[in-house]
Amino acid sequence: MMPDLDAIVADIIATMAQAEERGAVAAYIPELAKVDPAQFGIAIVTADGRMITGGDADTGFSIQSISKVFALTLALGKVGDQLWERVGREPSGNAFNSITQLEHEQGIPRNPFINAGAIVVTDVNLGGHQPRVAIGEMLRFLHYLCEDDSIAINEAVAASETATGFRNAALANYMRAFDNVRHPVDLVLGSYFHQCAIEMSCRQLALAGRFLMLDGRHPGGGRVVSPRRARRINALMLTCGHYDASGDFAFRVGIPGKSGVGGGILAIVPGSASIAVWSPGLNASGNSQIGTQALEELARHTGWSVF
Ligand code: DON
Repeated sequence: MMPDLDAIVADIIATMAQAEERGAVAAYIPELAKVDPAQFGIAIVTADGRMITGGDADTGFSIQSISKVFALTLALGKVGDQLWERVGREPSGNAFNSITQLEHEQGIPRNPFINAGAIVVTDVNLGGHQPRVAIGEMLRFLHYLCEDDSIAINEAVAASETATGFRNAALANYMRAFDNVRHPVDLVLGSYFHQCAIEMSCRQLALAGRFLMLDGRHPGGGRVVSPRRARRINALMLTCGHYDASGDFAFRVGIPGKSGVGGGILAIVPGSASIAVWSPGLNASGNSQIGTQALEELARHTGWSVF
């Protein structure tokens, strides 16, 4: 039986409004530090097409690392399982921007969701083209998934990260030394920073995640990925989607989820729901403090944990 989602969302909105510990906005990307931390939004799309929203569900935010899910989907479409020769599929147990494992592991990042892995995925998606071609492809993909052509890049955020993204530059250069980044580093980073700076609302993000709850199908008809690929992307989100807090997220929430330092989380209940939450304050692992708490509440009320 479908839980009463309207009542549950209303309850979550009320609880989150009272929350005292709201985390801190990402300050290492100066443009993100300007966002008002008091905001919270939630959107749930169910497998039968219902949309339930609450709070600031229509406010756009920087999707940041959540873009790595869509970038991975595109890269798998281009090179299939060959991708796994250049990126691993194991949780790293390290911070999202860590460089340490790369030295001992021949420049092969642990998984496609840490920054190093996403930079390799971006390199694959460039495919010899200019960044604007790869970014155009990503935006068209999101427009198709959400059936909404208004999704765009926040250029101020992209510029802010380009000016300060020294760790990502280090990761990209280091992997280039292992020939695991194959295009010029400035082109790869240009593409990566713009992809991270895409702005979406909870409503749009939940719509974009529908193919992952529907075994790879687009609800409008047609197929985005095979059922096997959808299952595998969900598995990676569950095991690696929250970096060194992935175990804690599985423990507390128990569904595939991908966070971003803009404060968003995309969470998938296979067969049942695609959920987006957003609140800009982050916990120590760089994941939304209130967003995680809201998903924990939602999983508790609905029984949606996969465990
Ligand atoms: O590369 C970065 O550091 C950011 N553009 C994205 C990091 C991120 O979203 C980590 N997520 N929690």
